[in-house]
Amino acid sequence: MDNKWGDADRPVARHVAIIMDGNGRWAAERGLPRVEGHRQGVESVRRTVEAAMEQGITHLTLFSFSSENWSRPKQEINDLFGLLRRFVRRDLAELHKNGVNIRVIGARTNLDDDILRMLNDAVELTKDNTALNLTIAFNYGSRDEIARAAQRIAEDAKEGRVAPEDVTEERLADYLDTAGLPDPDLLIRTSGELRLSNFLLWQLAYAEFVFVDVFWPDFTKEVFEEAVAEYQRRSRRFGGTSARSTA
Ligand code: IPE
Ligand code: IPE
Ligand code: MG
Repeated sequence: MDNKWGDADRPVARHVAIIMDGNGRWAAERGLPRVEGHRQGVESVRRTVEAAMEQGITHLTLFSFSSENWSRPKQEINDLFGLLRRFVRRDLAELHKNGVNIRVIGARTNLDDDILRMLNDAVELTKDNTALNLTIAFNYGSRDEIARAAQRIAEDAKEGRVAPEDVTEERLADYLDTAGLPDPDLLIRTSGELRLSNFLLWQLAYAEFVFVDVFWPDFTKEVFEEAVAEYQRRSRRFGGTSARSTA
């Protein structure tokens, strides 16, 4: 593991997942409308993608809109979708040039055709890139993802394509939106909230959690690096004994 953060003794953060939280509070603290926080949040996304590549992280997954976020005011939802559209329009070429492979996870229902088309085009354009695997969780909820997977397994069982005893952990994982992705090593949530909010419940089974006290628009490269450093100080055991103990 030879990137500059690597150390034979320390875990390397291959896949980092982030719950980007606190845009609204960032704006409220400044007496600004919430959309300003979301706008600044897009800047943080740009910085974070860059920083991930600099740190040798190969997989970055960002929670950008949850299945539950539909309960927000219509105007805020429109603002968020508008920012997504603008982000893809402005940044896609640059991301592609930098070798970013884009993937989108989440339900395809409820989304306008133009958003779906735009996301599909971004995935198609970048599908052969390998520098960074960027997964955008959009219209994503973990329970919804697991329920959709269960539905497809049930359909395949009905058609005789899968037998009950074939439904192993590995097989089930293949039905999730994240099929083929390694599980996240590190989960970061900004804004000081200590919960998962229905994010990657299956995939985070053995991730290390780091909660940082800054709002998402204030998530700098330094804060990111410190979260990764904190992760590297952890001892991951996966149910076994300490990796560093000799006993
Ligand atoms: C994160 O910031 C962005 C989304 C969830 C879309 P919030 O909008 O949740 O900001 P707070 O948590 O209300 O401060
Ligand atoms: C989680 O943040 C969803 C995203 C970051 C997209 P929320 O702000 O929606 O989570 P809760 O409602 O505080 O749990
Ligand atoms: Mg929030």
